[in-house]
Formats: sequence, C-alpha cells, structure tokens
Amino acid sequence: MEKSDDDAFCFVLFGATGDLAFKKLIPALYQAIRFNSSLMGGKILCVARTDISEEEYLKQAKDYIIQSVAIDFEEQSWEKFSQMITYFPIDVTDVNSFWVIQEHIKNKTAIYYLSLTPTLFEITIKNLAANTLINQESRIVIEKPLGTDLASFQKLSSLISQYFLENQIFRIDHYLGKESVQNLMALRFGNRLFEPLWNRTHIKSVQITIAEKDGIGLRGQFYNETGAMRDMVQNHLLQLLCFVAMEPPYQLHPDAIRDEKLKVLKSLRYYSLTEVAENSVFGQYEAGIIDNHKVDSFLEEKDIPSQSSTETFFVGKMLIDNWRWAGVPFYVRTGKRLKEKKAEIVIYFRNIPHHLFNMPLNKRANKLVISLQPKDSMDLYLMAKPPGYSQDLKPVKLSLDFECQLSSRRPTAYERLLTDVIHNNISLFVRQDELEEAWRKIEPFLNYVSKNPKQVIPYMAGSWGPAETNQLILKDQDSWNDERY
Ligand code: BG6
Repeated sequence: MEKSDDDAFCFVLFGATGDLAFKKLIPALYQAIRFNSSLMGGKILCVARTDISEEEYLKQAKDYIIQSVAIDFEEQSWEKFSQMITYFPIDVTDVNSFWVIQEHIKNKTAIYYLSLTPTLFEITIKNLAANTLINQESRIVIEKPLGTDLASFQKLSSLISQYFLENQIFRIDHYLGKESVQNLMALRFGNRLFEPLWNRTHIKSVQITIAEKDGIGLRGQFYNETGAMRDMVQNHLLQLLCFVAMEPPYQLHPDAIRDEKLKVLKSLRYYSLTEVAENSVFGQYEAGIIDNHKVDSFLEEKDIPSQSSTETFFVGKMLIDNWRWAGVPFYVRTGKRLKEKKAEIVIYFRNIPHHLFNMPLNKRANKLVISLQPKDSMDLYLMAKPPGYSQDLKPVKLSLDFECQLSSRRPTAYERLLTDVIHNNISLFVRQDELEEAWRKIEPFLNYVSKNPKQVIPYMAGSWGPAETNQLILKDQDSWNDERY
C-alpha cells in the first residue's frame, strides 16, 4: 500500500452542509480519526454555500454524529475531532472565494471530496485549478451519479482527467467498503474449498439481490431522473457481480484487482433491445403495507410527476460470455418498497448426477447464501440424513456468522473508504474504464425502458416486485431465494 504522511493531509469537504455530508461523511470521518490516531494531525476544511458560523456548523455536525454512532459516541474524541475542523462558507462558482483553501492546504496533501450536485463538478475543478490548488499529490473523491449514460460519463471523465491522473481519482461505490464484499474475495481466494467448484460445470445460476423496504424518501427529484438502473444496477450490482465472477488477481494490487473486474464487465453480454425485453423486468411501486403501515405509491411521493414511468424495481438475467461462466445466468435484482431489506448473493450449485437417497427431485442439493445485509453471514445448504431409519434426506444449514466469529470492530463502509483515501489506498475504488464498460452494457436497458414506458409494471409495496419476475426465473427452472408469491 502506498502511504503518504498521514499527518500532512487536508480533507476539503465541498457540500459540507448537505445530507450525505452530515449523515454519512462527517460521522465516518469522526470514527476514522478516532480509531486511527495517526490521522489526528490532519485538518478537515468543511466548505458550503450556507452562511453559518463555525460554532453553529460544529453543533450540527455533533448532533449528526451522535445520531449516527449512538452509544459509540465519546465526548473526548469529539473534542479532538472538532479541533481538526474549520468551517468556511464559499460559493464554488466564484473563483475568488477559493483563497481560504489555499491557506489551509499549505504543505499538506489536499483531498477534495466533491459532495456536490454533479453539475457543479466542472466549475469547482476549474476554480481549484485556476487557484493552483491541484498538484501531483492532490486527490479527488467523487461519487455517483457519475454521468447519466455512456456519453455524459465520458465527458465528465475527460474533464477530470485534464487535472488529475487516474491514481489521484477516487470514485466511491460505498458497496465496496462493506466488510462482506471484501470478504467475498477472501472466501474465494483464501480458501481451497470453493474455487474448484466456482464455474459453469458446478454452478447452475447466481442471484444477486439488493432489496429495500424504504421508498425514495425526500429524494424525489433525483430519483425520478435516475431510477433503479442508474441508482443501483450500473454501480453496486455490477460491482458485486464482478467480485463473484472475476478470475483470481495475481496479487492484491489495486490495478490487478481492477483489471480482473474489467474483464468481467467486458465479457458481459451486450443485449439488443429484443434481448432486453426477453431478459428483464422493470417495475414501479404502488401503495401497499410494509411492517403494518400503509405506504404511498411512487407516484404519490414528493416531487414525482403524476405520469412518471421511472423504474423503482429491476431484475435482469445477465450472461457472461467467457470460458468459466458461459451459459450460467446471473440474475441481478433490486427494488424499493419490497418485502424485506436484504442484500445477498446466492450461488446455486448443479444437482448431483445420481440419486442414491430419497430427496425431492426438484430440490438442488447445495446452495451457498452470502448475506451482506442485514447481517454479514454465510450459509451453506447441504443434504443430510435425519436420525433414525429414514433414507429421506433433508436440507440443513452450515451457518457462519462473521459478526460473532470475528468479533472485532467493523468500520462502516464510508469510514473504511475515507480512511483508504487518506492512506492513498485506491484498491476499493472504481477505475474509469470499469465504469465506462458498465455504462456501455447498461445502455440497452436504459434505451429500452425509455422507449417502452408501458413495460414498467406496477407492483404492490411490501411485495417482492411484479409477478413477471417469477416467470423470468422459471424459464430456467429456478426460483428466487425468498419463500414468496
Ligand atoms: C445508494 C442509493 O447508493 O444506495 C440509494 O442511491 C440506496 O437509493 C442505497 O438506498 C442503498 O445502500 P445500502 O448500503 O443501504 O444498501
């Protein structure tokens, strides 16, 4: 791992009064610094348009930290952390207001986190450059939405690359900061057991699900323009698919890992519009009941036009055209206002070739469920003989609860990723070519849904999505890993 002098960083947080900053980034920085004393010599410069005093800013920041870290809050650590923070109101569109940054980053590595609407990226970067605030040591951190399609992503990339080299650009996908996602590599490449079976000969299909009970909350305007494909599939789901499908990297070097992920994205089949229609289902939630509470439909949410056809649910059967995975369907699924909140990867192994024992013929002997949320765990389903005289096998679970067995403190995704940015470790960040390829492969789906708004099928909030989802998977004699319908 390349490592800069930890003491000598200045983390400049643009958009420091926004939702993401207060709810995720500030609490993550607080924890990162609290648990890495070597970072305490750094500085955090919070800037935003809001004209409030530093005292008021710190008061709000403290309230959000307390809400976020709850019983983990420690007054003493807050005292130290708050002394590292300076708040300053600036208007990023005004080139003359950047002088304050100049003063703070002197002799330090500048880390610019743009927690801003993407329309402000260009002017902010140009104004940093105009004030000679970018050098070979500077880092920039950006987070989706990075473009809305392939062309807009390429435009944004070419702008950023005029000022920063690829190894200075940290593109966050918070899913990569989750312990369970990193554990997937450990599971595959740190054990003898799974890798020999990890291919088309032994695996029948793979399901990757990120399901949420929540609706879109107050993000109506953003979500209406974004939809599930851009919000979840192009980034989080395809990244998870890469970790499941990639070849072993030759070492844990960031580019060795990213090269392998890129190969998966390149092998992902590019669908025609007819193939999109055959291999996907789009949905939008209607009113329903979740946890005994009535919830509104998507069209009743704040800032959503009454005719909106934005998808809040997607399932797609993806195919990876390479030697290891040819013919193995990878089902990716995500949705808002579904029955459960869960994120999981399910590996269905092929059936055994010859049945000695009685067991339901339609039941496959083995599946591996890797749960990322709500808990970090792994269950391997095996067939076993119940005690007594019966030869009827029953499925049993070999369960591994990572949180119990490995009980050391688990940093949150943002805490982990921000610590990595400060340590200049880029392994868990997404490279430009990966995102570009992901946009390329997702575009037919975006084109299809924008040309066929009627194909966005209503589903009841609190369900598992449109019933068509079940039909899609039934074509492959599969079923979802959620007792349902
Ligand atoms: C974000 C999406 O990237 O991920 C949100 O913009 C979504 O719409 C969230 O709710 C889900 O993240 P997690 O970590 O709660 O599964």
